[in-house]
This record gives sequence, C-alpha cells and structure tokens, in this order.
Amino acid sequence: MFDTMTATKTVGAVCGALLVFLLGNWAATSIYAMSSGGHGAEGESTQAYTIDTGAAAPAAEAGPAIDVPAVLAAGDAAAGEKVFGKCKACHSIEAKDGTGPHLNGVVGRPIATVEGFAYSDSMAAHHPAVWDPETLFHFLENPKAFAADTKMKFAGLPKPEDRANLIAFLTQHP
Ligand code: HEC
Repeated sequence: MFDTMTATKTVGAVCGALLVFLLGNWAATSIYAMSSGGHGAEGESTQAYTIDTGAAAPAAEAGPAIDVPAVLAAGDAAAGEKVFGKCKACHSIEAKDGTGPHLNGVVGRPIATVEGFAYSDSMAAHHPAVWDPETLFHFLENPKAFAADTKMKFAGLPKPEDRANLIAFLTQHP
C-alpha cells in the first residue's frame, strides 16, 4: 500500500519536474525572441542567448552575405568579455604586452603601433590602416587570411556574433 503511494508520488514528481523544465525552456526561448532586436543589458539573459545563438548560427553561416554593420551594432560587451577569455593567454587589456601586444585601445589604433612590440612583417604591412570595428571583424574571422605570416597563432572566431560581442567589449576598453 505504502509502496503504491511512493510510486505515485515519484511519478508525480517526475512529471512536475518535466513540466517545469519545458516551461523554463519555453520562457528562455521567448525572452530571446523578444530581445534579439534590442540589447542584452543583464548578464543573466546573456546566458540564455548563448544557448540560442548555437541554434541560430547555422542559419547565419548558410547565408552568403551577412550585414556586417548590423551584426556589429548588435554586439554585446558582456558576452564579449567571455569571448576575450580565448585571447587572454596572449593579450591583456591592462596596457601590458605579452605574447601579443596589449589590446586596450586597439579599436581605432593604427595597425602594428604598440611601441616595443616586434610585429611580423605581414602584420606591419597593414600599417597605417586603422583597427576599426570592420577591420577587426574581418581579421578575427581568420588571422592568417588577413596577414599570411602573422605571429598570432590563433585559428580565428568563425561565429560573427562572437566577433561582434568581442569588438563591443574591446570598444569599452580604450
Ligand atoms: C597564441 C597567442 C595569441 C592568441 C590566443 C591571440 N593573439 Fe592576437 N596577437 C598575437 C600576436 C603574437 C600578435 C602579433 C601578430 C603579428 O605581429 O603578426 C597578435 C596581434 C593581434 C592584433 C593586432 C594588434 C596591433 O597592435 O596591431 C589584434 C587586434 C589581436 N591580436 C587580437 C586578438 C584577439 C581579439 C584574440 C582573441 C580572439 C587574439 N588576438 C588571440 C598572439 C595571440
């Protein structure tokens, strides 16, 4: 008798948990849909974006051309701080040079101009062009395509959203 009750309760609990999970999932998707045209101000909802960005990425890659200014305008600095984790081994945003030159102030800075940093010839060849957001967007997709013999051993960031978020983050560190 008692066992039947326990079984019934267990089934009830499992169904309840499933329902909560489905509702949560649905809510997350709705929040994403509502704010995708706007801005992600809170760190919490940025987490929800990350999940959905994965689903949206194939669509973005499938399209032959992307609207770069629009993608850049949608960049989220908070999400970009996480992407910057991939750069930290070599770059600082605190005016210290490591394997790579410091990246505070890189947005708007002429290419290859950190004093005392020994750039590769193929990076220096881009001087005096400036690291504006579009140039960074292009470079970070595939560094070797931008500067064939670059010393930057980094494969690139294939997702346009990652690049846009990262550039928004770097823009906030003059
Ligand atoms: C393994 C180390 C390494 C990693 C990881 C790395 N970089 Fe670099 N980066 C370099 C080096 C070395 C250079 C100098 C390149 C040259 O002279 O060819 C460089 C150069 C640059 C430059 C040009 C700076 C200037 O002063 O002209 C930018 C911008 C840059 N990196 C951005 C990034 C970003 C953003 C990331 C993360 C997504 C990243 N890098 C990841 C090593 C790295």
